[in-house]
Formats: sequence, C-alpha cells, structure tokens
Amino acid sequence: MRRLWRPVLDGLIPYDAGLSLEALARELGRSDLVRLSANENPLGPSPRAVAAVEREAARIHLYPDGGSSALREALARRLGVGADQIVVGNGADELIALIAAAAFEPGDEVIVPAPSFEPYEISATLAGARVVESPLAGYDTDLDDVRRRVTDRTKAVMLCSPHNPATTIIHREPLLAFLDVLGPDSPLVVLDQAYMDFCDDADHVDGIRLLERYPRLVVLRTFSKIAGLAGLRVGYAVASVETIDRFNRVRAPYNVNRLGQVAALAALEDDAHAEKTRRLVLEERAYLSAELTKRGYAFPPSHANFLLVAVPDAAGLRTRLMRAGILVRDGAGVGFPGHLRFSVGLRETNETLLSLL
Ligand SMILES: Cc1ncc(COP(=O)(O)O)c(C=O)c1O
Repeated sequence: MRRLWRPVLDGLIPYDAGLSLEALARELGRSDLVRLSANENPLGPSPRAVAAVEREAARIHLYPDGGSSALREALARRLGVGADQIVVGNGADELIALIAAAAFEPGDEVIVPAPSFEPYEISATLAGARVVESPLAGYDTDLDDVRRRVTDRTKAVMLCSPHNPATTIIHREPLLAFLDVLGPDSPLVVLDQAYMDFCDDADHVDGIRLLERYPRLVVLRTFSKIAGLAGLRVGYAVASVETIDRFNRVRAPYNVNRLGQVAALAALEDDAHAEKTRRLVLEERAYLSAELTKRGYAFPPSHANFLLVAVPDAAGLRTRLMRAGILVRDGAGVGFPGHLRFSVGLRETNETLLSLL
C-alpha cells in the first residue's frame, strides 16, 4: 500500500480554535459576548486602518505586492533597520512556520520553554526536529536551564518575552549573558515579542536593538495586538539580511493579502490609536491586578495585555463567566491547570469579571 501521509502527523492534534465568536453568540443566545480569551485589542482597530481597508476593497481582484514592500519600508524607517532585514508574514504564526521550514531538519533539536506558545512546538515537530522542553521556573523563563540544554544539535532556541501564557519577561542582563555564552556559533535565538508594546518595565530589552551584536537573533512582532488587526493576520520578523533571505526562499509568493498590507501601513502611522490602546491596557491591567490582589488571588505581575491567575475550579469559573457573556481561557489548555488566562478588557467588562470571581 502507498503511504500517503507523513507519520509525524499521527502525533499531532489538529488545532481546535473552538466555535467562532459569532457561532458561540448564537449558541448562548447573546449578542453582547466579549472575548477575553484571545488577547485581542479591547479598543478595536485603528479607524485609519479601517478606512484604508475600505479604500482598498475595490482592488481585491489584484494580487498583492508579494514583498509587502511599502510596509517593510515603513517598518524599516520606524525601527531603524534595513528593509532587507524584515519579512512580513500572514501573522507571526506564519513566521514561526517559516523559521521551521528554512532551518529545521530531522535530527535537529529545538529548545522550547514549557509551557509556552504552542506553535513553537508544533512547527518544530512538523519539520521532524526534536523538541527539547525547558520547564519554566514557576512563571519565569529559566535561561540557565535553557543554556544547559544547548548541544551541537540545537538549531534554535524559542524565547518569548513578554511570555504567553505566563505574562512574565526575560530581563536584560540575563538575556545578554545568555546570548554572550552562546557566542558566535550560536543556534538561532528566536525572541517572540508579540506583546512588547504592553511592557513598561525599563529592564525589558527591545530585541531589534540587539541584532547588530547578535546576528543569529530573530525578533518576531505582530499587528494583532497593539494595532488590533488580528483578523487580518499581519506579523513580521526582523533579523540579519542573511536570515531574512533564507526565510524569503521558503515563503509563499503572495503571503500577505492586500487588505492586511494597507491596514498595517495605516495602523503604523496611527500613533494616537496605539498610544490610546497602550494607556488603556496599562491602566486596566493595574486596576485588575489591584482588585485581584485585594480578593486574595495569586498571579505573576503581567507585562502583557492579559493576566494568568490561579483560581480554584478554573473550569467551573470559566463556564460561569461564559454564561455572563465573558469568554476566558482555561489555563489547562495552555499548560497552567488551575488558572484562568484572560485579556485586559474595557472597565465595564473588567468590573463584571471581578464581580463574578
Ligand atoms: C506569543 C505569541 N506569538 C505570536 C502570536 C501570533 O500572532 P499573530 O496573530 O500575528 O499570528 C501570538 C498570538 O496570540 C502570541 O501569543
């Protein structure tokens, strides 16, 4: 018999995104559902991005710019790097897959903090690489443990700061010490900074500023969070020219659609909306954190737009919140049983959530 499918697929469970927001609203009979389970932007997209999509809508019969050139050039100016140091993807998710497609082979090892954002492990496994888990120390990435696991076979280290789902950051000094120890023949070090804009800790480092010193670093960012464009799927990687050239060799020709490109460009120019989002998230995160502490809940201080809170009976509480129209994530699904993960919402939603805890 002909064997059609790769055996590695047998061990993979298809990603279950659950019911769509619309289907769930129908099922629960509520049109006012608020989703706090996907770390989205509580203010919605930039109005400038919406206007850009409307203007572009009549041109969707035309293929997009395959290289996302205008967006890359605007990002390059903003970030102080060359446009040839950036690749734009169909969400940061696609970039994680591109890294695997370009670099990972059977026999390679990929170090992944556990728990962490699931696609790191899935893409490495799909590529035939062996995932080496480095357990978090409580809620923190343990760089000493990661370093001990680096071998000659290590192709990449996947780091996430602020961390999803633990909300913690990797501090500047330990990160630099880690990169220094790896030296010039370092594996790729992927630093996923999807939530960077919500971190106000002066000891958090902007990975892009480290690229000159550490050419094997790959920094991931997204328009899904601060810019509120999760539904359009736009993310980007910033790295050395050589690394980006390798990613471009495995990228599909028109990977980022026309609407996503113009919306991201408009969002990039809308500093006021980004600032408003950031201010709201920081204020409401402080409010939620203070109220949760008052009520005796334990959780790591969050540097992201969501919190991870230890609760008794997470599944029951999640159902109670869902009936009240608030969707949160059961920590059991993201490696933290006994916790709920929920995004920072608008004040009214946060008050309802607190009243139900
Ligand atoms: C840590 C982390 N990286 C990457 C992503 C993916 O972002 P995108 O929506 O751009 O695919 C997410 C999304 O939640 C995330 O939490």
